[in-house]
Amino acid sequence: MTAPLTLSSIAAIVLAAGKGERAGGTAPKQFAPLAGKPVLRWSVESLVRDPRIGSVVVVTRPDSRDEAVTILKGITGLTFVDGGATRRESVANGLASIDSDLVMVHDAARPLLPASVLDRLIAAMDDGDLAGATPAQPVADTLAARDDVALGTVVDRSALVRIQTPQIFCTDVLRAAHHGWQGEEPTDDAQMVRHAGGRVGVVEGSAILDKITWPDDLARLAAQVGANRRTATGMGFDVHRLVSGEELWLGGVQIAHDKGLAGHSDADVALHALTDAILGAIGAGDIGVHFPPSDPQWRGARSDRFLRHAGDLVAAANGAIQSLDVTIICETPKIGPYREAMRIRIAEILEMSVTQVSVKATTTEGLGYTGRGEGIAAQAIATIQITETPK
Ligand code: CTP
Ligand code: MG
Repeated sequence: MTAPLTLSSIAAIVLAAGKGERAGGTAPKQFAPLAGKPVLRWSVESLVRDPRIGSVVVVTRPDSRDEAVTILKGITGLTFVDGGATRRESVANGLASIDSDLVMVHDAARPLLPASVLDRLIAAMDDGDLAGATPAQPVADTLAARDDVALGTVVDRSALVRIQTPQIFCTDVLRAAHHGWQGEEPTDDAQMVRHAGGRVGVVEGSAILDKITWPDDLARLAAQVGANRRTATGMGFDVHRLVSGEELWLGGVQIAHDKGLAGHSDADVALHALTDAILGAIGAGDIGVHFPPSDPQWRGARSDRFLRHAGDLVAAANGAIQSLDVTIICETPKIGPYREAMRIRIAEILEMSVTQVSVKATTTEGLGYTGRGEGIAAQAIATIQITETPK
């Protein structure tokens, strides 16, 4: 590589067109759930998260494309391509629809991809003599040849490595290696590039990158994901002034009242407190950081946008909101008649179940600014389960 890498200059091909016969199960392994998210979504997210990867081609069997599209809903920059009868043909089909200088080829069946492996692969391509690079792991067990019934010679494992994906290549070299391939059916692309005379570098892979191949592999990965999961809580608080001549929006619901809340946006204190609680749980600052009141584009904005944005940040942080609880503090209006509508609206904005959302209300017995009806306050707490991505 002579030119320095710019952002988004790598395309990735994710192979998800296999039948997963060795793993068994009712659905091919790439569609199986892993800690609440399909394996394929884990694999694709781990690639799109890297800003150097600008596009991802997802290769599926034609009859699984709809399922893959559903699984990957909400992720931008994806193209879907039909796979072939072999892994090699699936790669070739993916290669036909990319136009970047560098390409990563990744097995969907390796869902836990540490960012550090991507760093090492991309750094390896700084060596201008390499046509590609692959992650590899040492072999730990004793290796021996075997015949049908007995053990044969022990093979020297110190000279062997286990090859993983993603593998990175100069696109033109990989295309040339695939063109008119005559050799045996290959199990990866590095061997094809090597066969065609290209040098392929080796970088350190990762144990959690091992492929799901056999029935127990998915459970092994699930345990590893579980070990990297933690529960986080965040709190939020907000107050807005009650004035005449404003609409009153609370909990995403418009309420008929003689006064409304004043503020730069629609001043929905309940949604603002919830937004801050969610941001707090993932350490993502507060609502003012993301939507500065000084920015004219948020004048009169509906607060469901703020809440949805916080929800999107949770998803990007590999999180799942477990529960939300907001308390609205005012003398009037009475919140009871609107409570269910607020829960339903909040759950709808965040695509959660209503049972995970609580809306409560209290007065301050006539005391203080809320007691005097000068403003409405809200406080909220969010509980979020976060799965740390492998480093
Ligand atoms: N793959 C593919 N197209 C094929 C065969 C495999 O895209 N025709 C993909 C698989 O979906 C998997 C990766 O290549 O992500 C590695 O292949 P492998 O582990 O062999 O997966 P399967 O072929 O699905 O499994 P099996 O061989 O057990 O049937
Ligand atoms: Mg296979």
